[in-house]
Amino acid sequence: MNVKRETTAKPAVMDTLEISEHQATVGHCFSDNAKMTMRNVNVFYGEKQAIFDVNVDIAKNEVIAMIGPSGCGKSTFLRSLNRMNDTVEGCRVEGDVRMDGEDLYAPKLDVVELRARVGMVFQKPNPFPKTIYDNVAYGPKIHGLADTRVDLDEIVENSLRKASLWEEVKERLHQSGTGLSGGQQQRLCIARAIAVSPEVILMDEPCSALDPIATAKIEELIEELSENFTIAIVTHSMQQAARVSHRTAYFHLGRLIEVNPTEQVFTMPEHDLTEAYITGRFG
Ligand SMILES: Nc1ncnc2c1ncn2[C@@H]1O[C@H](COP(=O)(O)OP(=O)(O)OP(=O)(O)O)[C@@H](O)[C@H]1O
Ligand SMILES: [Mg+2]
Repeated sequence: MNVKRETTAKPAVMDTLEISEHQATVGHCFSDNAKMTMRNVNVFYGEKQAIFDVNVDIAKNEVIAMIGPSGCGKSTFLRSLNRMNDTVEGCRVEGDVRMDGEDLYAPKLDVVELRARVGMVFQKPNPFPKTIYDNVAYGPKIHGLADTRVDLDEIVENSLRKASLWEEVKERLHQSGTGLSGGQQQRLCIARAIAVSPEVILMDEPCSALDPIATAKIEELIEELSENFTIAIVTHSMQQAARVSHRTAYFHLGRLIEVNPTEQVFTMPEHDLTEAYITGRFG
């Protein structure tokens, strides 16, 4: 896909008025086949507001990419989808976040269970200091997903296969996960997320610490995973967003500016701010 690269006269930095006057997100934010629905989501760190009134759906089996300049709130928004922000001191989320219609901020909701249903893969691979096997088996064990050792072995193997790691590690399952290469560690973390049968997987710049070959493997994997899971991925790489996602969401200073089919965002963006970003005028 060609990324539009135009350099004709536009201000180097967009007028801030344009941002504050911005009312609703442009493009295609909603879906008839929504897995997750976010309405009027605002996120604060103490007094400081980091996310302003975001309304968007994530469709079932969709890969949605979230892009935008550093500090625009991508990670903050992503963390509000599985209540990871609950663990951040001083962070407060307002608004409505639902999965299959269920209110994920309901007081009685079990957040440990939620984070299995909406799994997360971080920027830096973070395997537990345990064996490869135990990294993957840990979640199914604590969530009671396996009755016997045979069941557990099967979950571990299937998860490692789905994460395209099985062939590389099947002879060394009882060696430490931290002894793997960065790319393998990241696939191990994906296997760990998959092992508890999540419905949605959130990925926050999952390839930024990886080399191009490891990155290509993860990108290929994301495409395969979308057959079974719904995926939201934050990335700084527009090429990556273009390669792996169906829709792209562009964030700017805490606001969701545009959501559109990925091809459109990178060839014919609807909003000037999106265009300025993808053509490299800021960010
Ligand atoms: N724990 C925190 N306490 C206070 N402010 C925070 C905290 N985490 C993030 N922020 C602020 O919230 C805003 C959004 O940050 P966030 O990390 O979500 O941006 P981002 O788009 O993920 O950036 P990057 O691309 O650099 O990862 C920034 O202004 C940031 O400084
Ligand atoms: Mg971030």
